[in-house]
Amino acid sequence: MLDQLNDLYSQALDELERVADRQALETWRVRYLGKKSSLTGVLRSLARLPLEERREAGARANQIKGSLESSLEEKEKLLQEAFLVSPGVSQRLDVTLPGRPLPVGGLHPVTQMLEEICGVFGNMGFQTIEGPDVEWDYYNFEALNIPQHHPARDRFATLWIDAGEGAKARLLRTHTSPMQIRLMEKERPPIRVVAPGRVYRYEATDAIHESMFYHVEGLAVDRNITLADLKGTLFEFCRCLFGEDRRVRFRCDYFPFVEPGVEVAVGCTACDGLGCRLCGHGGWLETAGAGMVHPDVLARVGIDPEVYSGFAFGVGVERIAMLRHGIDDIRLFYSNDLRFLRQF
Ligand code: FA5
Repeated sequence: MLDQLNDLYSQALDELERVADRQALETWRVRYLGKKSSLTGVLRSLARLPLEERREAGARANQIKGSLESSLEEKEKLLQEAFLVSPGVSQRLDVTLPGRPLPVGGLHPVTQMLEEICGVFGNMGFQTIEGPDVEWDYYNFEALNIPQHHPARDRFATLWIDAGEGAKARLLRTHTSPMQIRLMEKERPPIRVVAPGRVYRYEATDAIHESMFYHVEGLAVDRNITLADLKGTLFEFCRCLFGEDRRVRFRCDYFPFVEPGVEVAVGCTACDGLGCRLCGHGGWLETAGAGMVHPDVLARVGIDPEVYSGFAFGVGVERIAMLRHGIDDIRLFYSNDLRFLRQF
């Protein structure tokens, strides 16, 4: 068997020496390395040999196979080089010409904004987590103090997946606040997380409203967390994104899952507060809802509200991107107009 293999090897090398073009090289490859080659035949027949002989012949056959494969590679290179310098080709082909650029895509402006927002909170010690777009009524509403028939449900025009039974109904989440519950069910304080994600509302679109948009939820729970911590965190966030001088407004608002609740608005960057399309001529754009986590919400997930307190916020990502780039219509983000998207 060994002699047979060695003969095959020298024969293959001799023939390879004489190969002069790519077609002949392919024929050689099929003959000596292809599925029906003698070498493959030998490898297959090894199983029939006695153990000692099988070991020796197997090792030699594999060695020959490896060596023939590298010789094939080398020959390929040589033929290619010879082809490029052959007179017919070298006169027609300028190998010094630069290559044609391949079109490269970029990150969507909203994706860029999401990364930047999570980065800013990351620097403040917030971890990023993610959760499902299809959510149970329980997480989206019930556990957040919004039971069936609570008027606050009207605020979130909901897209239902199936009606289900009460808390078991499924929907497309209308905000990322369900992530507060999902996280607090598993983790104990201290908690500091942000949860970016898509949210959906069954509402008519206009210059500052979309029916699918992004939120970044924030949650911090620990001993002695106060409204001042919330305000400090959100003001620092605005300072990082919009600079020292941008005005930020912090006003009372109502969300059933926080007490007290606040609304954060940023002075319009397009008109500097004078009034324009971006800010609906009011000089301010609402960018986030926030507040101190309601004691009932903490108690529901088994965190003692007498010991711990927390703040939460939900930032509208497209609104931040609009302020950042002076974009006066939110619908531009999802209209797939490459002239718009390529600017970022
Ligand atoms: C909420 O969704 C609350 N979950 C926020 C929250 C979290 C409050 C934690 C308290 C504690 P709201 O519906 O206001 O709140 O949405 C939050 C932000 O999303 C708004 O301030 C706004 O910037 C943005 N936003 C709201 N509706 C739309 C819309 N249709 N299109 C684009 N952005 C929107």
